[in-house]
Amino acid sequence: MALNLLPYPPCTLSSPPQSYSSSSATSSVPFTRYASPSNSLLFTLTATRPLPFRTNHARRHLTPLSASLSTFDSPSTSGSHGKKKLLLEVKDLTAVIAESGKEILKGVNLSVYEGEVHAVMGKNGSGKSTFAKVLVGHPDYEVTGGSVVFKGENLLEMEAEERSLAGLFMSFQSPIEIPGVSNIDFLNMAYNARRRKLNLPELGPIEFYAYIFPKLDLVNMKTDFLNRNVNEGFSGGERKRNEILQLAVLGADLSILDEIDSGLDVDALRDVAKAVNSLLTTQNSVLMITHYQRLIEFIKPAYIHIMEDGKIVKTGDISIAKILEKGGFKAIS
Ligand SMILES: Nc1ncnc2c1ncn2[C@@H]1O[C@H](COP(=O)(O)OP(=O)(O)OP(=O)(O)O)[C@@H](O)[C@H]1O
Ligand SMILES: [Mg+2]
Repeated sequence: MALNLLPYPPCTLSSPPQSYSSSSATSSVPFTRYASPSNSLLFTLTATRPLPFRTNHARRHLTPLSASLSTFDSPSTSGSHGKKKLLLEVKDLTAVIAESGKEILKGVNLSVYEGEVHAVMGKNGSGKSTFAKVLVGHPDYEVTGGSVVFKGENLLEMEAEERSLAGLFMSFQSPIEIPGVSNIDFLNMAYNARRRKLNLPELGPIEFYAYIFPKLDLVNMKTDFLNRNVNEGFSGGERKRNEILQLAVLGADLSILDEIDSGLDVDALRDVAKAVNSLLTTQNSVLMITHYQRLIEFIKPAYIHIMEDGKIVKTGDISIAKILEKGGFKAIS
């Protein structure tokens, strides 16, 4: 079966693979309707290689910042990166809403090196989610200028599916449901798509179950979630855990996590943050979007960027989040 992972039109998933049993789907799942680019049909499946775990503490040693630095005005990252490779380089990126032509991104600059964790903060409506969605190739937006290089390649020339297979994962602010497709089928299909790309043999349902089972612990999820349709009836917190499960299964060189903390209770927040930390390696990076200090404290990004009116206007270290928490955006502007 030719499964196109692209969640957008014109691709359709006409029927789930024969071997998958748990999908209660009618055989025709209108994927184009349901799978807006959510749920990380946009991702990489780099989990096919072992992910060496390492602690956040270790990561901070790899990303030293000047002790005196708290904020600096340069919109791109200018800290010390040693011999690390540049993973993502965004230069003067501008983008409009495809339908209306309204400009949302007005010249974003950002550099992410391998092994780094960056956070983007900013007022509601400042363009954070738009930036993330433009990076993964969401069809609601049209890039009008600037450049994005990911792992040395022009990201903007890639289809959304190619971006995910190249190593980009995005967890959406509002993960959507995919009626008729069970979680495990969905993940297995996505995982196998990556295996095909790497010329590796696909995993059948039983092998895949063995692969995914230990990962449930990571996000503190019960096995029955695997047989439920993707996000259908999931609470807000369960959806977020499910997003991280997808990341754990599929892996990514760069994970973009858009408000992964929204709607989470304290315990769930800790679980999700722990899972994200445990997936970090010296090679892969995270770009997290958040409004809250709490997630920042758990994940400890080395860089925090403030977005305002479609641009990154300030970049600093973790202290910027503390100033924000106390004094609001006016305190850092
Ligand atoms: N598809 C769209 N159609 C119409 N307007 C859009 C669309 N996408 C984004 N916008 C508008 O662009 C602006 C930026 O939206 P975006 O979702 O990027 O903000 P945000 O910084 O993520 O905000 P929040 O913190 O509330 O999540 C908002 O005014 C929003 O209404
Ligand atoms: Mg948003």
